[in-house]
Amino acid sequence: MISKELRKKYIEFFKEKGHKEIPSASLVPENDPSVLFTTAGMHPLVPYLLSEEHPLGARLVNVQKCIRTGDIEDVGDSTHNTFFEMLGNWSLGDYFKKDSICWSWEFLTDKKWLAIDPERIKVTVFEGDSDSPKDEKAIKIWKKCFEKSGIEGKVYNKEKGNNESARIFPLPKEDNWWGPAGETGPCGPDTEIFIDLKKPVNFEKCPNKKDCKPGCPCGRYVEIWNNVFMEYFKTADGKYKSLKQKNIDTGMGVERTLAILNGFDNVYETDVLAPIVAQVKTLSHCYCEGEARSNPVTTRDGSNSGILSSSAQNDSIKTMSCRIVADHIRAAVFIISDGITPSNLDRGYVLRRLLRRAIRHGNLLKMPNGFLLPLAETVIDIYKEFYPELEKNKDKILEEIKKEEEKFERTLERGIKEFKRIELRIKNQELRIIEKGEVFNLYQSYGFPIEMTKELAKEKGLEIDEEGFNEELKKHQQLSRTASAGKFKGGLADTGEETVRLHTVAHLLLESLRRILGEHVYQKGSNITAERLRFDYSHPDKLSDEEKQKVEDLVNEQIQKKLSVSCDEMSLEEAKKAGAMGVFEAKYGNKVKVYTIGPSTSSGQTFSKEICGGPHVKNTSELGKFRIKKEQSSSAGVRRIKAVLE
Ligand code: SER
Repeated sequence: MISKELRKKYIEFFKEKGHKEIPSASLVPENDPSVLFTTAGMHPLVPYLLSEEHPLGARLVNVQKCIRTGDIEDVGDSTHNTFFEMLGNWSLGDYFKKDSICWSWEFLTDKKWLAIDPERIKVTVFEGDSDSPKDEKAIKIWKKCFEKSGIEGKVYNKEKGNNESARIFPLPKEDNWWGPAGETGPCGPDTEIFIDLKKPVNFEKCPNKKDCKPGCPCGRYVEIWNNVFMEYFKTADGKYKSLKQKNIDTGMGVERTLAILNGFDNVYETDVLAPIVAQVKTLSHCYCEGEARSNPVTTRDGSNSGILSSSAQNDSIKTMSCRIVADHIRAAVFIISDGITPSNLDRGYVLRRLLRRAIRHGNLLKMPNGFLLPLAETVIDIYKEFYPELEKNKDKILEEIKKEEEKFERTLERGIKEFKRIELRIKNQELRIIEKGEVFNLYQSYGFPIEMTKELAKEKGLEIDEEGFNEELKKHQQLSRTASAGKFKGGLADTGEETVRLHTVAHLLLESLRRILGEHVYQKGSNITAERLRFDYSHPDKLSDEEKQKVEDLVNEQIQKKLSVSCDEMSLEEAKKAGAMGVFEAKYGNKVKVYTIGPSTSSGQTFSKEICGGPHVKNTSELGKFRIKKEQSSSAGVRRIKAVLE
């Protein structure tokens, strides 16, 4: 089965069960300060999991583009990817456990759908703790499903050691609880569906062979689907409150499911990745020269890389590099297409790291200079039918990759030489750790992302002072930022009052900018934290002091006028006719929400109308005093305002 068929079947199945299809949201979350990227289909749906009404109803289905950088060190194994597609279905306070589990079973096992042999399926459920009880309900439903297929739905019992015969495994929170993605937000126990490959993929990683069960790092069990029973909200003090409504949030990995359905032992053989891997092999010098057994890889400065001692090791290293290149270029293409460019900050830095790591692994494979461009074109070709934005943004994607490749190529060779000098010095002194200053210098002067230095060090049996590096980095950054581990893992904002207020003031700001600067002003992006609003808009010039003052005044005037904020649902056509601003046309399908600010009782005039998912305050009087803290350039033709409510 190819990706196109799988996506189609999934959507069709859930449409038959009364779901409405929603488009994939952008990889860059809107108005969500706590995540860099969309890591699951539920991110854009948070307001609806928290009881806002969705214009398309309570049953939704989609295919969502996702980026997860938390697993970056696992990329290259058989199942982990930085970019992946997730098939998802949601119940927003509608159906719950029974339908969710039974439909998953039907979709997976029924001949009409995926026809997976039920014998190969094992599932996990939440075993219970002081926050939430053992999921007896899910166990009962699963038992019935297995029994329908003539299989005894045995529950795992550690004392009995019935790992092999058991079908249903109750496991603790670290295994069977999903979310919140950030510090606070919707979450709940989940049930995860695994396919048993009947043998470990990686023997060394099976810590206790007798206790091998779903979730074991050996890779014998591949998780393909996760059904979350979102009925709690985790609060800032770590408590779990029941949500007003019980929701279902499921996610099924496209690449993994395809690998299983086709009997591949890794995701790189599926139709979404195989052409990229094949092209890497074609371009790579070491594959061309006859699998490189007699021809060890040499790095660009002509020396043997020293890591290729045996041919088996050589092959597995080549395979890893090949996969890393394929994975990273695919992720980079999608990230650039959603508006990010390489930089040293947040999302831009993730992108830069992906591209540079791909380049280094490409060099290990003796790829020619500029190899990322033809690979990027292949990625676009694979996906353009389903994600037309890739074709539309093709020039931009290729241009950004080319620029970054050229930039990094200029210093990479010198950087590798510098690394060798460091390595030699350390080994001469019989030391093992690369000091923070040296790691920082490689970053600063040669553009080596931290994990690249780490990876190089590991290959040479060395370590790096990562903590020291991070301190050093912080010292050097004027802006404090959280592009560190926690933030890369992803997380969701709480819809705290502060962020809601800033969200509403963003509408006032956009309209004020348009009235003062002109109709060419459009919103180009925004990012809200509890402390501030960051707002990007199209405008060629710096704001003069006078303009800045005028914008501030106009926004504050609307606040003082105590304008009401109201919300209407309508078709996109109607919204456009009503003159609503909005750039996210594809987002909610046909029905959209339009937020109107005004009229005030005195003037009777509407101030602003925007297509937006909300939430917003009820009246502008809740907003306080608006102040622009900073105005700067964001990119060509785009300015950025940082503002607060005092
Ligand atoms: N949010 C859950 C996950 O990412 C289910 O979609 O696994």
